[in-house]
Amino acid sequence: MIIPVVLSGGSGSRLWPVSREHYPKQFLKLNSEKHSLLQETVLRLKGLSDCRDPIVVCNDQHRFLVAEQLGSLGISSSRILLEPVGRNTAPALALAAMAALETAEDPVLLVMPADHVITDVVAFQTAVKQGLELVEGGDLVTFGIQPDSPNTGYGYIHKGDPRAGGYGVSAFVEKPDIKRAKAYLESGEYLWNSGIFLFRAGLYLAELAEHANDILQCCETAYHGRHEDLDFLRIEGASFAECRSDSIDYAVMEKTRRAAVIPMDPGWSDIGAWDALYALKASDANGGNAVQGDVLLHEAHGNYIRSESRLVAAVGVDDLIIVETDDAVLVADRSRAQDTKQIVNALKAQQ
Ligand code: GDD
Ligand code: MG
Repeated sequence: MIIPVVLSGGSGSRLWPVSREHYPKQFLKLNSEKHSLLQETVLRLKGLSDCRDPIVVCNDQHRFLVAEQLGSLGISSSRILLEPVGRNTAPALALAAMAALETAEDPVLLVMPADHVITDVVAFQTAVKQGLELVEGGDLVTFGIQPDSPNTGYGYIHKGDPRAGGYGVSAFVEKPDIKRAKAYLESGEYLWNSGIFLFRAGLYLAELAEHANDILQCCETAYHGRHEDLDFLRIEGASFAECRSDSIDYAVMEKTRRAAVIPMDPGWSDIGAWDALYALKASDANGGNAVQGDVLLHEAHGNYIRSESRLVAAVGVDDLIIVETDDAVLVADRSRAQDTKQIVNALKAQQ
């Protein structure tokens, strides 16, 4: 029995001005014109055998967005766990594991960030099935992506001994500095952590007890004080607020001795900033540009241009990001996509 857990608590500041705090990227139709990233994440599970409707863990202020987006897919029986404040993924997953354990006997959790794109669903589901074998053997399974750049925004997995369709993990390094990332890439022995995990709910809690017991204790108290509110499960605020903020990657995956990895190649992409959408959508036929919406180009190359509400035209410019919305326009060098966050920080400081 698989219970998917969709992590939907991020704010997506590098995709400003389309992604906003009250309406972040996972709720936006960034990749397709039909579905948001959250909806694509849930639809990716269709056809996976012995798989229940997902538990979605999100910030309290996004509850109606989540409910509406799942409802419009005809999924109304999922659990929506509401965090009063964000404390990163290690606590979010502890709460999800506790909720899952109430509905099934030690279920397998398939943890999926709500903001990734996967273009080959068959390859993804095949990898999940392979992962189940390792879960049976008592592993915490991550899914690894062949790296193609020394990206410092990812976790790096050093492949260990071969096991059933995958490998043991001899080291897990979350977000290394650029020097180490380059060395890992060159060695050919590392995979990127996709941020998608498969493990038994009970094993995750046991590993948390071993490596970050304070987080487990706070989450237990907060979960104990939960209350049902319509379709939502509200976590008790004061004790959860006391919890330390940490990710599963630092709190558990770097420390556990029970990690294994299944390499996969499902056209995976973490839509972190506009350059990721450029990489996904650029086509040679279109002068190496990627355009979304009402856009006209003349002798322009290598640009990502998105229009939300007005016609955007560009002449003779290369390698830019131009994103137009009702109330703000971003123009950036494509190589500086990550720095969009600085604009959001500056706006916050003005408030
Ligand atoms: N519910 C909830 N609560 N979700 C959260 C919270 C939280 O407090 N914080 C983050 N999330 C969600 C995000 O929305 C995202 O879907 C997912 O958890 C992962 O968080 P990110 O903040 O996007 O992590 P990251 O991209 O820096 O790093 C992770 O993903 C990489 C791959 O994309 C790590 O797992 C890396 O090791 C990995 O390479
Ligand atoms: Mg991410």
